[in-house]
Amino acid sequence: MKRVIFTGKGGVGKTTILSNLARLLVRDGCKVLVIDCDPSMNLAMSLGIPMSEIVTLADDKTSLQEQLGVSLEEHHHTSKQECDHHIQEFIMDASDGVKLIVMGTIPFGGAGCICSHISLVKLLVSYLSAGTEEYDFIFIDSQAGVEIFGRGLASEFDDCIVITEPTPKSLEVAKHGSKLSRDLGVRRQIAVINKVENDDDIRFCMQELGGNVDCIISMPFCRDVKEADRCGTALMDYNPKSDALKEFLRIKDCIMER
Ligand SMILES: Nc1ncnc2c1ncn2[C@@H]1O[C@H](COP(=O)(O)OP(=O)(O)OP(=O)(O)O)[C@@H](O)[C@H]1O
Ligand SMILES: [Mg+2]
Repeated sequence: MKRVIFTGKGGVGKTTILSNLARLLVRDGCKVLVIDCDPSMNLAMSLGIPMSEIVTLADDKTSLQEQLGVSLEEHHHTSKQECDHHIQEFIMDASDGVKLIVMGTIPFGGAGCICSHISLVKLLVSYLSAGTEEYDFIFIDSQAGVEIFGRGLASEFDDCIVITEPTPKSLEVAKHGSKLSRDLGVRRQIAVINKVENDDDIRFCMQELGGNVDCIISMPFCRDVKEADRCGTALMDYNPKSDALKEFLRIKDCIMER
């Protein structure tokens, strides 16, 4: 099983890229679980699930947290069965058979930070990693910025997909995210330069990113991606023949490399 975190500055395309890759991998026969760790909870929408149908881990945090803790400590068959059963309650069937778990949001102003929600996801990923290999991939969609790395959620993950636009501020966030993921023992840092408009964009990013990441892939600005989003649909449903899909396939191939 490969565990992959997607990170980057706000609006760079984390959710768009993750959701398209997850669907392409499922179409290749892989089992993919995606976990939305952004309190804005956009990932469900990108995967065909309306907001009104979202179930979140935060709805039942304490009880699942206890169960996962006990099961991880005791390796007890019965507690594992109960735990598996409980986790199923939070798994939603998304487009193409992608499995989706949503962490949860901030329910009201002044409700406090999401640290405990992220800790629960960390425990859940540890639990799923320790069990039978039910999934080929676990993808984590994160909130904009680097806070998620402070909670150690991506510890020892296989890949960190650092998405950036060709702008100095976006690149700074990407470099910082890449460094923090390396601190956590994430094995590969893959940069995706998104919304590229010309060769200068690529040159500029290559200069800035060189030495900070293991691999760099570029993705052009694509009208189809934006239009699909505007119509509330995914690129592969909006225009299955879009050239942008070829670009997503290149990123997919890179993630599939062992
Ligand atoms: N290659 C692209 N070409 C054109 N538009 C794109 C491309 N990639 C993403 N977008 C658009 O950029 C916007 C932001 O994308 P998305 O929501 O995936 O970003 P994000 O990084 O997940 O944002 P957030 O930080 O809010 O979670 C969307 O309108 C999306 O359609
Ligand atoms: Mg997003």
